[in-house]
Amino acid sequence: MRKCLLVTCLCVLLLGLRNFWLTGFSFDSNQPMHVTILMWHRPFSVPNDLSGDACGDHHSTLFCTIVEQRSLFPTADVVVFHNYELVTGREKLPLDLPRPPGQRWAWLSLESPVHNGDLRRFAGIFNLTINYRRDADITTPYGERLVNEAEGEDPVQDITQNKSFLACWVVSNYRSSYRRSQVYKELSTIVPVKVYGRWTKTLLTAEALLPTISRCYFYLAFENSEAKEYITEKLWKNAYLSGAVPVVLGAPVQDYEALAPPHSFIHVDQFASVKELAEYLLQVAGDKKRYSEYFRWKRKWKVKVSNNWKERLCKLCSHYEHLPPNKVHTDLAAWVHGTGTM
Ligand SMILES: *[C@@H]1O[C@H](CO)[C@@H](O)[C@H](O)[C@H]1NC(C)=O
Ligand SMILES: *[C@@H]1O[C@H](CO)[C@@H](O)[C@H](O)[C@H]1NC(C)=O
Repeated sequence: MRKCLLVTCLCVLLLGLRNFWLTGFSFDSNQPMHVTILMWHRPFSVPNDLSGDACGDHHSTLFCTIVEQRSLFPTADVVVFHNYELVTGREKLPLDLPRPPGQRWAWLSLESPVHNGDLRRFAGIFNLTINYRRDADITTPYGERLVNEAEGEDPVQDITQNKSFLACWVVSNYRSSYRRSQVYKELSTIVPVKVYGRWTKTLLTAEALLPTISRCYFYLAFENSEAKEYITEKLWKNAYLSGAVPVVLGAPVQDYEALAPPHSFIHVDQFASVKELAEYLLQVAGDKKRYSEYFRWKRKWKVKVSNNWKERLCKLCSHYEHLPPNKVHTDLAAWVHGTGTM
């Protein structure tokens, strides 16, 4: 009798253990996958710390840690290299270290192709590109349009209320060879253009930037380069957040159409000449109804500005599971300059 009881007890105990093992086991497989992203050096030596469990709770199946200690190289899942420091020789790729199998190397740059230096030396080295372009492995644009959930919001009564300048331009790096300088020069002979920035020694503080631009009907969101999808904070932040209508020059018109809110900008290439552009600006500024049409997009759209390195690295985290299992950028230069097929 006692023996029987003992056997039953033992059986119950074993069953319990088995169940514990099973549930314990399945609990384990639901544990988030852990991904370590090693930032080899800080982009432009930004002072802020990039490391930590930066990516929050919203990626339930993945747990990402961003680290900056190079000693963690052997166990990192992704190593991110910001291009500027590599091409200027401030930093080097750790080509002497044995590269752990499965580890991915990511090339990160938000500069336009002409400012990326000679990339031919990086052929066959990187597995991923992190860039503003939509065809990058991880797309990290300077800004994006999002559907405005709070639909129906009426724009301000009179957007032109505080406007005292027709067109404004903020420029620190003036080079007469840039196309934007040529357009500015010609435009300013026809209509008044108020210029701020280092070039004219009228620097604006970060706090003064948007309120100053908001006093202009139009803001010249001219990029320094004309390159595919290269649309920077000049559009997303300076123009859209200030409430001046952007006059854009840079990427082709169809890129702006694909990426920016509809009827929210005026592209220089939409006009046969700078003179025609100038005439158009005068007409629109003189017609409140036509001018306000450039703000109608706000009913359906809103704009998100992205200027945070940590956030960009977190995008890598949220896309980690969907990365191609095996990929090598055999000709990075061709991809960047749009001459390749990759
Ligand atoms: C104009 O400026 C005043 C005072 O700063 C402000 O209250 C008002 O909202 C501004 N109007 C517009 C349309 O921005
Ligand atoms: C990453 O690229 C290297 C070539 O530099 C290649 O040997 C390796 O298989 C690639 N790894 C992945 C995970 O794509």
